[in-house]
This record gives sequence, structure tokens and C-alpha cells, in this order.
Amino acid sequence: MPKEPCAIATATETAYQRCVSPACGATYGIDEVRVACQACCGLLDVLYDWDRVRPPDSWSFFEQKWSRRQDPLCFSGVWRFHELLPFAPKEKVITIGEGQTLLHSSLGVAKYVGMQPGGLYLQYEGMNPSGSFKDNGMSAAFTHARTIGAKRAACASTGNTSASLAVYCAVTGLMKAVIFVGSGKIAYGKLSQALDYGALTVQIAGDFDDAMARVQEVSKQLGIYLVNSVNPFRLEGQKTIMYRVLEALRWQPPDWIVVPGGNLGNSSAFGKAFSELRDIGLIDRIPRLAVINAAGANTLYELHERRGLRWNDGAPDDSISEQYFSELDAGGRRASTIASAIEINRPVNLAKCLRALAVCDGVVREVSDQEMLDAKAQVGAGGLGCEPASAASVAGAKLLRAQGIIAPSDRVVCILTGHQLKDPTATVAYHTTDQQQFNEVLGKRGVRRASFANRAVAVSNDLDEIVKAIQLYS
Ligand code: F0G
Repeated sequence: MPKEPCAIATATETAYQRCVSPACGATYGIDEVRVACQACCGLLDVLYDWDRVRPPDSWSFFEQKWSRRQDPLCFSGVWRFHELLPFAPKEKVITIGEGQTLLHSSLGVAKYVGMQPGGLYLQYEGMNPSGSFKDNGMSAAFTHARTIGAKRAACASTGNTSASLAVYCAVTGLMKAVIFVGSGKIAYGKLSQALDYGALTVQIAGDFDDAMARVQEVSKQLGIYLVNSVNPFRLEGQKTIMYRVLEALRWQPPDWIVVPGGNLGNSSAFGKAFSELRDIGLIDRIPRLAVINAAGANTLYELHERRGLRWNDGAPDDSISEQYFSELDAGGRRASTIASAIEINRPVNLAKCLRALAVCDGVVREVSDQEMLDAKAQVGAGGLGCEPASAASVAGAKLLRAQGIIAPSDRVVCILTGHQLKDPTATVAYHTTDQQQFNEVLGKRGVRRASFANRAVAVSNDLDEIVKAIQLYS
């Protein structure tokens, strides 16, 4: 029998926030609202005194919760693992049924990537209530916001964070959502969600990097709770994506986790999840991590792979990133990719992601819009479609396989971060027969072909013609 873990109600004494920089290490209470260290402006972690929290010593503890799934905290794919993110008492937890997601073994995508059959899995986070992985983190940040009595919550977003925040506000009625989006920079599916769910939608004449800078200023000035992934509680929720991957693999870590990189919250959360699981003895091996940038928004790739920026035991050489950002500014270079979700040049979680890459012996790659859209079409052909940014994981796995870094016999999990319906414009343009539409949406981004297009067949409104067309094409 697994030993009985201690009550989470004592969590406020056993959880705290701490600056990620070991040289600083300033700590803050769990009830403080901060998105940066007061002493050195570094990012913050939520940490636990595991000796006192006494997490379960066996995964079967979590498996047993499924038999009690009429309890919303056992049903949620986030809060089923509450003992691994014990920062709030049960009665404060907010859940709207997030995290009921699927690890799907895809034969078609395995073949496309160059893996042996059964070696490629897709972690389909599009099944979340708002259609993206963000709900994992939002339920955690929202829970924290509730514990401190927030009445308004804000974020800057390329669309999915805002859709997620808007859903949590609308379903619970606990807070008002204020969202900042770059004008014209957000896919229609996501914008439609924010509007429909009643969020105050502020369209900034700028891109995500501008919106991110403004929302931090505004939330500070107006005392609005910020739910972007600089909020360390968000990342606590996103750790659970990895718990569910492990669960689906019968608690055997895969060889690789491959994830798109934008603001670098997921990759940071995954690294934290694995190092904590190892520290508390629930796993004995950490998978390797591959973070995949869009080539048009490739800050992490540039810094990590080309300029050698490393975590360096908590003392990364900041002059490397400062130099790079000043080059971006001097050249007026903005992020640009069809994968609008990851069209980000100044990832706020850079330091944490470097730490995750160190913990997970990670690599970073960049993929073109062409590679992402082809990979996306392959994912869609297998039925569990995704948005363009999500397909960066599959395109990245293919590249790493071609480079011989991933072996054909490895077990690889690609994270599909967002639902297929998020960005219909990109999908329809890929499959279209209308060259002008293709050029307008994709051609201008360097996409030249649609090798896996499924083109609609145009026929006149005539029974014989329709029958002929069906006979010909089916
Ligand atoms: N995939 C999708 C579908 C996303 O929406 C995002 C981020 C990412 C990948 C990148 O994840 O930031 O953890 O590296 N979207 C944010 C937003 C920025 O505002 O919705 P990350």
C-alpha cells in the first residue's frame, strides 16, 4: 500500500516561492503575488518542502483516484496530481475538467518522422476545454488568484492563453478577463473564443512582444492578477502534462519529449516536473527534451545552439542574450511565422528553459513554415489535427531523426499543444485549389508547395457530374 500523503491543507506552510537564480535565492510566501524576484528581477519558482509534504511514494496512489472521478478533483487531469503541486488547499482549487487528454500512438506520423511503428506518440492537448494545453496552467494560476482574492486577471497572448483565461472567467464567474493581443496577430478561432466568452479584449497596434511588455506594466499599475507564464503557478499546472504522458506509458519515461517553443513555459514546466519526480523517487530516468522554434521566431535556437548560451549552474551569461536582443532591435527584426502561437522573439521563460535543457540533456532546433505545415497535414491525416505551432514538434522530431540524434528505435512523444480548429485560415490555405489564397496566406511566408494537400473537387450542380467525380476520386 502506498503510504498516506499528508493533508494538502497544510500546504501553505510547506510551499513557497524562490528566485531561480541560485546566487540570489530570495524566497517569498505562497500568498505573495509576484512575477519577478524583488531583489534581482529573476523568475520565480514555486517550491515545496517535500520532507514535510510527503508526496506519494508510488504512482498507484494517483491511479486509484480515477475510481473516485465523480469528485472533480479526481476527474481533473491536473488536480488528480494535486500532491505534486500542493500549493493550495482543496477547497480553493478551481477546475473546469481540464487535462482529459490523450496519448495517441500514431503509425502514420511515426512513418513520416522515420520512427519504427509504435515509437511515436502524440500527446493531444487540444482536448482541453479551451482547445489548448493552456488550461493545465490556467487552472493552477486561477486557483492561486482565487486564494489571494483577485477580481480581475490579465494576459498578453498569441491567442490560446487568452482563450483559456476567458473560459475560466466565464465558467466560474469569479474574475473579469482582460486580454492583450497584437492586432492581426491572432488566429480567428482563438479571437472568436475570447469575444464569445466575454473577455475585455484589448488589441494593441503591435505584436506579442509589445503586448507582453504592456500587460506587465498595466497589471502592475492597476493591480490586476497576471496569468502569463511568468506567473510561476501557471507552470505548476503545466507539469501535469508530463505526469499524464508517464501515466499513459505505464510510468516508463520515453526517450524524448518534443515540444514547440514560444514563450518557453511548457519546456520550463516539463524540466521542473522531471527533476522533482527524480528528487522524490517516482522516476529514475529523465527523458531528453527537444524544444522546437519556428525559424521565423528562433531566439532560443539562436542563443542555445549558435551562440552557446547555457544554464551554467544558474549563472547563464546574460551578455549573450542582451547582445542578441540589441541586434534584433537595431535591425528592427520582428518575429514572423505562420505559426502565430509561437511568433515570439523575447521568450519570458528563457532562463527556466535553459535550466530545463540542462536537466533533460536537451537540444533546440528550428523548423520552417513549410516543414510545420507539411507535418501538420500529416498529423491531420491521422485524425487528431492540430494548429500550425503544434506541428513544430512533429517537424522537429523528423529533423532530429534525419540528423541521427533521435534513433529509429527510440520512444518519442510529440506534444500537440493546440486543436486543429484554432487556425482554420492556415489549414484551408494549405489545402486550397485557389493559388491566390495560397499565395496570400502561405506563399508570402516562403511556403512553396502543399505536398500533402487534400484538395476539394469542384463539380457542377449535376447528378451525373457528381457521380462521375466520386467514381474518379474514391
Ligand atoms: N503551442 C501553442 C498552440 C501555443 O499557443 C503556444 C503559446 C505554444 C505552443 C508555445 O508554448 O509559450 O510554453 O513555449 N502560446 C502563448 C499564448 C504564447 O499566448 O497563447 P510556450
